[in-house]
Formats: sequence, C-alpha cells, structure tokens
Amino acid sequence: MSESSKESGKTSLDSIFGKVVIDKQLCTKGEVKNCLDIAKKSITKGQPITLTDVLLSQGYLTKTQYKRLKTEVEKSRSTQQIPGFKMIKKLGQGAMAVVFMAKQISLDRTVAIKVLPNRLSENPEYVERFYKEGRAAAMLNHNNIVQAFDVGESGGTHYFVMEYVEGLTVYDVVKQNGIYAEREALLIISQMADALHHAHEKGLIHRDVKPKNIMITSDGVAKLADMGLARELTDTDAAESEQGRAYGTPYYIAPEQIRGEIDIDFRADIYSLGATLYHMVTGRVPFEAPSPSSVMHKHLKEDLVPPDHLNPKLSVGVSEVVEIMMAKKRDERYHSAQELSEDLQAVANGEPPMQARQRFDADTLSDLEKGEEDFDAYDDDDDANYSNPVGLKMAVMLLSGALLISIIIIIMLSGK
Ligand SMILES: Nc1ncnc2c1ncn2[C@@H]1O[C@H](COP(=O)(O)OP(=O)(O)OP(=O)(O)O)[C@@H](O)[C@H]1O
Ligand SMILES: [Mg+2]
Repeated sequence: MSESSKESGKTSLDSIFGKVVIDKQLCTKGEVKNCLDIAKKSITKGQPITLTDVLLSQGYLTKTQYKRLKTEVEKSRSTQQIPGFKMIKKLGQGAMAVVFMAKQISLDRTVAIKVLPNRLSENPEYVERFYKEGRAAAMLNHNNIVQAFDVGESGGTHYFVMEYVEGLTVYDVVKQNGIYAEREALLIISQMADALHHAHEKGLIHRDVKPKNIMITSDGVAKLADMGLARELTDTDAAESEQGRAYGTPYYIAPEQIRGEIDIDFRADIYSLGATLYHMVTGRVPFEAPSPSSVMHKHLKEDLVPPDHLNPKLSVGVSEVVEIMMAKKRDERYHSAQELSEDLQAVANGEPPMQARQRFDADTLSDLEKGEEDFDAYDDDDDANYSNPVGLKMAVMLLSGALLISIIIIIMLSGK
C-alpha cells in the first residue's frame, strides 16, 4: 500500500496537499496539474492512487517532507474542530486571524469564531494579545459593540467566540456602493462615538478603528468589531513592550500611534474614527501614498484636504467635525467621544457643531495671541537695533570729536 494511503482519512488530507506544495514552492502549478492528471487516470484504470502518492513517486516530495507537511496540515485542520462548536463556513480573514461562522451546540445559536493561525499560536506575544482582546471585549456590553462570548484553546489553537453579525462592513459597503450620503455616514459614526464612549469609560481604547471594523446589521445597527488591539489604560507594561512600534492600519492611524508613543489614549480612537468618516463621505482615505511609511509620514506632517473640498455636497459642519477629530495634536481634538456625539447630533440636525467651533475659536485666538507676541517681540528687536540711546550718544560723540580734530588741523595748516 502507498505511503499516503496507509493513513486513515487520506483523501481529505490529500486534497489540501496540492495547494500546500505549491504554497511551499516544492512544486509549480503545472507540476501539480500533471500529477493530478496521473491520479485521475489511475481512477479510470481501476487502480486509484492519490495525488500525494503521485507527488511521492514522481520525486516532488520526499517521505520526510510528506510527514512534516502532514503534521502541519492536520494541525491547521484542527482549527476547524473546536469542542462545543460546529464550524459552518469561513467568513473572512484579516492580517492576524481567520473568522468562521459556527453553531454553538449547547445554546443552538450562530456565533462568529476568530481563530489564531498556527504560526501565531506559537508566538506568546500574539497569544497574549489575542487573550487580551477577549478579556477587554468581555468587559463591554453595548448594542453598538460586537459582544464577546468566550475565549479558549483547543489542540494548541487559540480562538475567540463572539456575536455573529449578519451584514457587511463599512469597508465592503463603500467598495460596493461608493460614498455614503452625509446623513447616513453621520448615523453610523454617531453609533460608533457612543460605542467608543462606553469603551473609553471602562478604560479601554480600541486602537484599530477603521471601516473594516464597523459592521452594519440588516436593521442598520452599526457594531464596532475587533477589539484585537484593545488594552486597559493602566496596562503600561503592554504599552511599553510596544514602544517604538506602530500598530494598526496606516490609513486611519493617529500620529501619536505612528510615533510609537506609549500613553495612547481615547483621542487616538477619535482620530481614527475621523479618518473613517473622511473615507465614508469622500470615498478617499485622508492620506494616500505608495508605501505605508509615506502614508504615515503624511499623517504626521501633511495638512488634511478638508472633506468638503473633495465632495462639495458636504456641509461645512461635517468638515469642521472631521478636522477637529483629525487634529494632528491630540489636545486639539474632542475632549471625549461624548463631546463628539454632541457635534455629530448637531450637524445631523442641520445645526452648527458648537464644540468644534469653540475649538476653532480657541485656536484662532491663540494664533492671534501668538501673532501679537511675535509682533511685540519684533518691536523690541526694532528698539534694540534702531533706538538704542547709548549707541546713539556714542556715535554723536565720536563724530563731534572727529569734526573738532579736522577743524584744528585746518586752522593749523592755514596758519602756516
Ligand atoms: N462578529 C463577526 N460577525 C460576522 N463577520 C465577522 C465578524 N467579525 C469579523 N467578521 C468578518 O471577518 C472578516 C475578517 O475579520 P478580521 O477582524 O480578522 O480582519 P479585518 O478587520 O477585516 O482586517 P484586519 O486584519 O486588517 O484588521 C471581517 O472583514 C468581516 O467580514
Ligand atoms: Mg476586524
């Protein structure tokens, strides 16, 4: 009997092998296709052999490589076998994990399960962050936040069980339908401001607010997903261990996160939510560039093109709100998500955003004051250069002396 056929359940393993050997660059696509053809022909001949058998017999795979890959493949399949849950389908995949739809057997309810890939399960730093997400999210209970249910480990694989949200992310909606009308965008961002206010009150910062992490249910309720980068405010150890490293997606990340500052607070979420609103109503991210580092550089240095310059249909109010949310200096942003909510509400009602206006006025006032100080300083300099009485006296005395000496010389010469 062939090597792979000795294993029970070989066929399902075999079907994954073709992809794995290409991914690992052990074979080209063409070579796998040739092996598949041989395997198919063997069925018609009545002596079926598997693709893995062909890969082995053709020398594309050694026995040692096969054994190693088999262990890896089996381990990755175990991610889909979590006790108490029946996996239904893959919902999506992000940079850090895969999300599945599943049935929680005991409660007969549909849930979403975020599973850490094996490569990350072996990384204690990632595992710790993964568990932190679970613990942080479990502290929250809000209609606009995806509810965390459970966190655990099975066969070396770490997973996080959460409320299943049937619907699209804001990212998907923008991709499908283009930009949001101002009113719709404000409705969603208001719900996110409420969600963030709740999280911030509990001492949690999301740190990765972006269109992909806002899900919209079929009833139009917006839910903030993915607390993967959340942490307790007091957890300075975690912050310090991340010092100097920038986390999050560059398109929405706050300048202080880019600088790797350790005391990231709720204002980073307000910036990211502002960048999200910007994207929703203009169809463009606030700062675009060919590389992540140049995007980050623009967040730090470049002035924001006001959203109403890109979409003239927008009200002045919404533009003002975005500009305050995305102020480069965090103390020029809203002082809380609740303050932001007030302005969002006002703009939605066609009224001016008073909190933003106050900030603009305060800025203008301090600019004016700064201008006056500069002007005074300039005046002082003028005095120093042109009105120094001591300097003037000295000059007059020297000139008079020179004049006197010249007169004496002329008299002496004319007397000869
Ligand atoms: N609770 C949920 N219910 C339903 N679908 C979900 C849920 N959470 C996530 N998803 C889906 O799974 C996808 C992957 O989510 P994940 O949080 O791993 O990555 P992401 O946020 O899309 O991207 P990134 O890794 O860049 O943050 C999401 O885009 C979404 O479509
Ligand atoms: Mg996400």
